[in-house]
Amino acid sequence: MSQDGPRRTDGRTSEDGGDVSTRPLLNRRLEGHGSTIFAEMSALAVKTGAINLGQGFPDTDGPEEVREAAVRALRGGRGNQYPPGPGVPELRAAIADHQRRFYGLDIDADTEVLVTAGATEAIAASMLALLEPGDEVIAFEPFYDSYAACIAMAGAARVPLTLRAPGFRPDLDALRDAITPRTRLLLLNSPHNPTGMVLTREEATAIAALAVEHDLLVVTDEVYEHLVFEGEHIPLISLPGMRDRTVSISSAGKTFCFTGWKVGWVTGCAALVAAVRTAKQYLTFVSAGPFQYAVAEALALPGSYFTGFRDDLRGKRDLLAEGLGRAGFEVHRPQGTYFITTDITALGESDGVAFCLALPERCGVVAVPNAVFYDDPDAGRTQVRFAFCKKHDVLQEAANRLRGLTS
Ligand SMILES: Cc1ncc(COP(=O)(O)O)c(C=O)c1O
Repeated sequence: MSQDGPRRTDGRTSEDGGDVSTRPLLNRRLEGHGSTIFAEMSALAVKTGAINLGQGFPDTDGPEEVREAAVRALRGGRGNQYPPGPGVPELRAAIADHQRRFYGLDIDADTEVLVTAGATEAIAASMLALLEPGDEVIAFEPFYDSYAACIAMAGAARVPLTLRAPGFRPDLDALRDAITPRTRLLLLNSPHNPTGMVLTREEATAIAALAVEHDLLVVTDEVYEHLVFEGEHIPLISLPGMRDRTVSISSAGKTFCFTGWKVGWVTGCAALVAAVRTAKQYLTFVSAGPFQYAVAEALALPGSYFTGFRDDLRGKRDLLAEGLGRAGFEVHRPQGTYFITTDITALGESDGVAFCLALPERCGVVAVPNAVFYDDPDAGRTQVRFAFCKKHDVLQEAANRLRGLTS
């Protein structure tokens, strides 16, 4: 066993009655899942005063009326005490309405919706509820970082399905080959962080058919559902045979620019939602009472909010993509999300981690190396991710600074 985990500092030894001094405090399942890259790079941004295009949080808050709704709830004493375990009825109804309005899905607000502490808790609760030790979970690699940790906490094994540049399309033959008798579920993310890949209807349909053929559960992380610039967002739960095997996860953080509120949700058939709720109730039990009322109002905003938000982000994508291209990066233009993955080979660089660690000092910009999202870091060694959910002038300034890399 590796000895590099945190250790007791109280001086106890094995003579005191145990081997606590020689055993790492962090359990084996979490070995190698130290601090997240986002915390590390954001700390570097603060230390150097660099523009932070590393972590994916907007630099402006969401709609004023949604903020006001939160203030009204707080002042009106709504949600200041423990809300109901599955979420306040107003929010559950709004989530069900949203699924009907955007995807034509018929979801029962009482039994088929669960409000969580962000998508992060929804992912954790789903893994803890649905997996047994020894199960295998197939997920697109590069992975959003919490996937690996949550699969590990459940004692299961992750099996990567690598998305490769250019295009980052899923290889459906490789997916078929990756399925074994131990495969319990597919953990899918579209629009995909960090590559910006959005599953096509054909791909989603083929993946759903494999899930049905092999009787797999599917957990879909759809937090960027309203950030699709090319193509359309297809919830896998809407495809044939998927209604009773899919846990759909989303969150208010990305869609309404309130990432700090941590209001997320799960939708699915009553049996799956009940299973996830069982794990969730012992994680946070409940959270974000007043914000739940505000998010209920946000979900009912007119269509112009959703299209306006998407169009604004598309403009920002184009602005940063152009700037990165001019600065000498190879740009993989994303179809969705608010991240651009680039390749730094054309800049004469070969190691994204070293490049990102040096970038704040070199030109005052923070980015994230995609290598940290791969099991096989070689697969993403030369990829670097930039977030474009920032003000226009911030993106312009970042682009100007990055130009300094080659001039
Ligand atoms: C793919 C993906 N899933 C989940 C999350 C976390 O969402 P939340 O803030 O709602 O917990 C993020 C945040 O960056 C993400 O990119």
